[in-house]
Amino acid sequence: MRITLAARPVGFPKVSDFELGYAQRPTPKARQVLVRLIYLSLDPWLRSSMGGQESPHLPPIQLGELLPAHAVGHVVKSEDPDFREGDVVEGLLGWQEYAVVAGAELRKLDPNLAPISTALGVLGMPGLTAYFGLLDVGDLQPGETVLISGAAGGVGMLAGQIAKIRNCRVVGAATTEARTSWLCDELGFDAAFTTNNGGVLRDKLEASCPDGVDVYFDNVGGEVTDEAMCLLNEKARIVVCGQDSQDNLEKPEPGPRWLHRLIAKQARIQGFVVSSYSRLFSEGRAQLARWLHEGRLKNHEEVAQGLATAPQAFIGMLQGKNLGKQLVQVGERYRSPSL
Ligand SMILES: NC(=O)c1ccc[n+]([C@@H]2O[C@H](COP(=O)([O-])OP(=O)(O)OC[C@H]3O[C@@H](n4cnc5c(N)ncnc54)[C@H](OP(=O)(O)O)[C@@H]3O)[C@@H](O)[C@H]2O)c1
Repeated sequence: MRITLAARPVGFPKVSDFELGYAQRPTPKARQVLVRLIYLSLDPWLRSSMGGQESPHLPPIQLGELLPAHAVGHVVKSEDPDFREGDVVEGLLGWQEYAVVAGAELRKLDPNLAPISTALGVLGMPGLTAYFGLLDVGDLQPGETVLISGAAGGVGMLAGQIAKIRNCRVVGAATTEARTSWLCDELGFDAAFTTNNGGVLRDKLEASCPDGVDVYFDNVGGEVTDEAMCLLNEKARIVVCGQDSQDNLEKPEPGPRWLHRLIAKQARIQGFVVSSYSRLFSEGRAQLARWLHEGRLKNHEEVAQGLATAPQAFIGMLQGKNLGKQLVQVGERYRSPSL
């Protein structure tokens, strides 16, 4: 089974924008590897590729093309001497059960180090995004107040925990009370408030950040960001990681003009693309793995079952329904015939 782009989404994608099809199992050529997928990562960047826009991660995809995605799988057949049957690998494998890719484009995983699904979450792109976005772009310092929007998603939950490890006061913005409770009770955030559950957003923000905001890690944009701008401290940093609330709008939303607030506060705003840190990925991954093993970083995944459920799970993720990292289980882990 494989899933391709049937129609460019207008607003939030619909199940009919995806097409399920079947293909012959491909055969690897020299230096290529056949991989059976185990976990597929669902990531918000796919929405802009589906819509035909440039994404920092991949060029736009065309109608009828396979949907791209990072995934973890096991090697079924290898024509690359660096890989053998049963190896667990991560790469851009797409929404399909079997993928043929050049060995050079795969990363071999050690299944004894951490659960293999973490290669798509805490030890993958979301973890590295939180790590470099907060510590390098945000230049986070101990004792500062960090505000995180989209805090209960794959990147946000890790950014908040990293900030706690760095002895900061961490405040999360999330869509529902169940999610804000989870942030405080399970992940150790100091405070969290709901963004679309009634009440005046500015009041909730002021109550959660009585000493203002030093670093704002923005995954969502829109109204929360407009209000956060009013609470910036001197020399605050705004890290623009994502703008989830804007990605599915049919027309851009007019918003308040708040750039003038950066002047008096001498604040800095910066967007970033995690791939620009690729030469530091091993260092970042090693630190994240240490924190994970020490129990200082908690992981949370939601796993939809079966490739056919991926469109619905993806739409749910764009509506903010997932807690933590959203994955799809496509197949089973390889078991050696000798076991
Ligand atoms: N710059 C980079 O290099 C880079 C790399 C990876 C990811 N990203 C971006 O980082 C952002 C977060 O990624 P992720 O993997 O954590 O995604 P995610 O798991 O979908 O989490 C995003 C969270 O934002 C909130 N949200 C989603 N849609 C929303 C909407 N329409 N309105 C308001 N809130 C909404 C939801 O949580 P709450 O209930 O908690 O609000 C959701 O869980 C995305 O924009 C992604 O594109 C950027």
